[in-house]
Amino acid sequence: MKHTKVKDLLNSSKANYEVNAKGWVRTFRNNQFIALNDGSTINNIQCVVDFENTPEETLKRITTGAAVSVIGELVESKGAGQKYEIQVSKLEILGDSDAEKFPMQPKKHSLEFLRENAHLRVRTNAFGAIMRVRSVLAHAVHTYFQEKGFVYVNTPIITGSDAEGAGEMFKVTALPFDNTPRTEDGKVNYKEDFFGKETNLTVSGQLEGETFAMALGQIYTFGPTFRAENSNTSRHLAEFWMIEPEVAFNDLNDNMDLAEDFIQYVIKYTMEKCQDDLKFLEGRLLEEEKSKPQAERSEMALLEKLNFVLENNFKRVSYTEAIDILRDSTPNKKKKFNYIINEWGADLQSEHERYLVEKHFKCPVILFDYPANIKAFYMRLNEDGKTVRAMDILFPGIGEIVGGSQREERYDVLVEKMKALGIDEEELWWYLDTRRFGSAVHSGFGLGFERLVLFVTGMSNIRDVIPFPRTPQNAEF
Ligand code: 4AD
Ligand code: MG
Repeated sequence: MKHTKVKDLLNSSKANYEVNAKGWVRTFRNNQFIALNDGSTINNIQCVVDFENTPEETLKRITTGAAVSVIGELVESKGAGQKYEIQVSKLEILGDSDAEKFPMQPKKHSLEFLRENAHLRVRTNAFGAIMRVRSVLAHAVHTYFQEKGFVYVNTPIITGSDAEGAGEMFKVTALPFDNTPRTEDGKVNYKEDFFGKETNLTVSGQLEGETFAMALGQIYTFGPTFRAENSNTSRHLAEFWMIEPEVAFNDLNDNMDLAEDFIQYVIKYTMEKCQDDLKFLEGRLLEEEKSKPQAERSEMALLEKLNFVLENNFKRVSYTEAIDILRDSTPNKKKKFNYIINEWGADLQSEHERYLVEKHFKCPVILFDYPANIKAFYMRLNEDGKTVRAMDILFPGIGEIVGGSQREERYDVLVEKMKALGIDEEELWWYLDTRRFGSAVHSGFGLGFERLVLFVTGMSNIRDVIPFPRTPQNAEF
């Protein structure tokens, strides 16, 4: 007999027939009621064991975490909270789980404890829900772009270029650490390395993506990116997934329209497909916030917050306007910010971004036209000569979720900028070729996938929305 997923059993259109279910025991009550979960849904199916006719030995082995297979009749449940249950006629223990030792006890565990057990935390309601939501969001990303005719591009993970020019890269090498080959002046001789040059893990697929956009028109990447920035925050990972669309002939306004439409689409798609999981996560968040002082609690419940993003346009504000707002803000005047905003040109910290979104505008914000010298080399210089056509999208509770720009399409201006920043033209000869042969206005952005998952699930630490987080001093599993 083939087993049926718990989700399908609970949604069955009929009752009173024999079924087989396989899954893991969440709880076993009164020597009679198994709450069985197989990961197909947050909901368990109740399996009622005929304890009088089941050997004591078997009953003892029905413990939290054990894998079991049950055969029995699917019947309408008398208990509250579930439509169907299984009247077990045959029970088989597939894999025992020592009740004393299994770390995922049916009680509340701290998120820190669960992180240390990332291989088992996915067996909890919260992490099952988060990971299903993450999967559906990923599908939504592909569906959105594929329906719009974007081409999915797999940009390289190992690369010689520093796309963001920030230098926060993990080196990739096959050279030995002892007896490292050196040049005459004592530097590491990368000519003898695997690729014959210095290479690193990519920080962004953008530069390669741009070359494809300048041929295929509309492309997107969706892949892992790596940053060796030593920021131990609840918003940073050393390995994260980024979605980077790039579109030929789009200017910055088109880019903002695309980003807004895209984000609203994937949230809506996920709200439709993940109702049970999101309802659970909403309850989890409410529960978590009970322990916080009133002022720190969210003003909206999770689903309300998601709907708010769907129903309201993102507020578009120039960097210059934002600086004026911040300079006049109460926390700035009262010196409550860690970094006081004094003048135009200051880089915005997450405390400023969050003030703008959460306190001032109270909705998602797109900041644009940043000072050139706080942004990457490839951004289109404005006529004023001091700002670039950059945009960051800021979300409540998250801060920056998207970074993007219209690209500098003018060869001469780009080369001059690279020279000024000391970026090697020879290294990026292929990138400059896009400006040499058929250059055109084009734009794109990068969305940090985990920051999106954070927002949709209402979790507050980025380590809790990726299966196995990579952060400074941590690469377990
Ligand atoms: O703003 P960033 O650095 O932009 C780029 O990499 C551009 N090349 C994107 C483009 O225009 N194609 O990164 C983009 C987004 C950020 O807004 C943030 O959501 C996310 O990537 N991000 C991180 N997420 C998790 N951990 C980190 N360390 C992140 N760094 C950036
Ligand atoms: Mg950024």
